[in-house]
Amino acid sequence: MGPALRCGDGMIGVFDSGFGGLTVLASLIEALPRYDYLFLADSARAPYGARSAEVIHRYTLESVEWLFDQGCTLVVLACNTASARALRNIQQLHLPAKRPDRRVLGVVRPSVEALAGLPPGAIPGKTLPSSVTGRVAVLGTDGTIGSDSYGIELHKLAPGIELVQQACPMWVPLVEAGELDGPGAEWFLRKSLDPVLRSGRMPSRILLGCTHYPLLLPALRRLVPPEVAILTQGGIVAERLGNWLERHPEQEARLGRGGRREIVTTDDPSWFAARGERMLGRTFTATQVRLRPLD
Ligand code: DGL
Repeated sequence: MGPALRCGDGMIGVFDSGFGGLTVLASLIEALPRYDYLFLADSARAPYGARSAEVIHRYTLESVEWLFDQGCTLVVLACNTASARALRNIQQLHLPAKRPDRRVLGVVRPSVEALAGLPPGAIPGKTLPSSVTGRVAVLGTDGTIGSDSYGIELHKLAPGIELVQQACPMWVPLVEAGELDGPGAEWFLRKSLDPVLRSGRMPSRILLGCTHYPLLLPALRRLVPPEVAILTQGGIVAERLGNWLERHPEQEARLGRGGRREIVTTDDPSWFAARGERMLGRTFTATQVRLRPLD
């Protein structure tokens, strides 16, 4: 164990608090197979969802720094909670001061573009006219919803679109326990869905704003009216990362193309590989690493 793993320069680092982010990794590999990927799950300290903003920021930064130390030039925060609580600070303060040549991207902005119905590559800073209206919803952890990151980003992009936000504190524990269906799971799914489905006009799109939630999709699909689209993030993030790379050729040129895929965790790697299989869609081997606390 230890931070000895050195994968070489140019891997795309993909970070999540736990194994849910493997759903995003699977989509990235499918859509952009030519690049090298190093996936880090901070399983030893997951879930992040109910932790304070300060702690989420510290844990996320330690994880990002570890990925940079392995040679990653670009890191994707697949975790909504980390994107919501830590990304802005990392982008605006940490990178310019300590890592000016590296990039960190999150999942909130691309997901908001998709919620607003925009194609990839919406110009940053561009705002849709307030005549573009509608009602959409996002479901996430306490940390994600409490940060109002989705609300802030959607308001910047499409001020005429109304957003319903709902924290679903029991959904990550359900997924972690493998309780994806059945009357017990359904009770908790309804508990968080009902306020969204019964608070006025029905949203046209519901975003599953947490990497764990795609596993609940079959059960959710039965509870949500068929005319309401349920968006999962893997495909959205992969499509928009591809677009981002086209618009940032200087970053794209730095990426390795050896077809390497490494999966590491801060907790027991056998447990992680057994639990993560369903998320990635195939078996894999994981390695355990230890993160360095920040000075
Ligand atoms: N990966 C987190 C997210 O997407 C969910 C799990 C957690 O609470 O750590 O928000």
